[in-house]
Amino acid sequence: MPRPIYATVSRSALAHNLATVRQHLAAVPAAATGAGGPAVAPARIWAVIKANAYGHGIERAMAGFSNADGLAMLDLAEAVRCREAGWVGPILLLEGVFEPADLDIVGRYHLTIAVTADEHLDMIEHARFARPVDVFLKLNSGMNRLGFVPSDYRDAFQRLSGFAQRGKIATIGHMTHFSTADGPDGIAAQLEVFRSVTSGLRGPVSLCNSAASLRFPEVAADWVRPGIALYGSTPFDDRSAESYGLKPAMALRSALIGIQDVPAGGAVGYGATFRAPSPMRIGVVACGYADGYPRHAGTGTPVIVGGVRTRLVGRVSMDMIAVDLTPVPGAHVGTPVTLWGAEGLSVDEVAHAAGTIGYELLCAVAPRVAIRSEA
Ligand SMILES: Cc1ncc(COP(=O)(O)O)c(C=O)c1O
Repeated sequence: MPRPIYATVSRSALAHNLATVRQHLAAVPAAATGAGGPAVAPARIWAVIKANAYGHGIERAMAGFSNADGLAMLDLAEAVRCREAGWVGPILLLEGVFEPADLDIVGRYHLTIAVTADEHLDMIEHARFARPVDVFLKLNSGMNRLGFVPSDYRDAFQRLSGFAQRGKIATIGHMTHFSTADGPDGIAAQLEVFRSVTSGLRGPVSLCNSAASLRFPEVAADWVRPGIALYGSTPFDDRSAESYGLKPAMALRSALIGIQDVPAGGAVGYGATFRAPSPMRIGVVACGYADGYPRHAGTGTPVIVGGVRTRLVGRVSMDMIAVDLTPVPGAHVGTPVTLWGAEGLSVDEVAHAAGTIGYELLCAVAPRVAIRSEA
């Protein structure tokens, strides 16, 4: 029998979350965003499936997001996998291409690419495409990660327009990425930069990640790019996914593989960081940092054992954690354990206890953890 740890990914939860984000966007009238003028149709959704669909698996995500308008990712090979698995809608490569040869594949598989740097323009200039390619020109509106700075953006657009006239490019969209959509600064400053730089330019607009889609649905424009919300986790520190009606798509589960009766003063785990204040039953769970459970989760991190909420005690080991069985007197070897994503325990709660974010936990589930697909 394999170790009892496994994850489940629910296709219906993925589909539900996509529909929930769509409804959220539809509930407010769209506002003018700059390029292309006001969006009149409801925003289309690129379901972001980078990082192996935030740990959920590309094929599972494709099935769950079958109603998405497009898929967005980073990896060319994953984009090809999606096409070969039958995805016929648009596929956006969020970081564009990495070398000239990638453009052959872009053309062959009809992929849409972000154009973020002069090197991309040079590569397109020298590429030969069987048919014109769709692109999104990326503006660095203040995050200072990828994209053209405002003073270079229109020159880049002109170059792309020239390529369009030569039949290499079909549509030129405009995109930017918000750095503080989840925080007190919001999106106003970056949106203002975007609007002024793209003013009067034609083409579809894509601005919003999950945080911006949920918090500022009125600026959704033509295409939104939510990732984390579609997996049922929150981009916010101060608002839960559940409060938006989102459902966890992944649950991580295991079982007790050992029980220890620890006397008062007895230590638990590496470094003896936890000592039983009084005699205690401790459960040992088959889940450790080599499974993707965060090593920084400390004593007190919530865990569900046999349907009862309790807490982790001591340090996370490579393959095991220890839990307090005081509230679960009937627990025994084999009792099921939920680490996150079910029975009211969100991945965000566990992430918060570990000083990180749900994104990291979902992406970090290790290859040795079997993933079961659920309807
Ligand atoms: C360009 C871009 N768009 C969209 C997303 C999706 O973000 P989120 O998962 O916060 O919705 C990301 C993720 O980092 C991104 O880099």
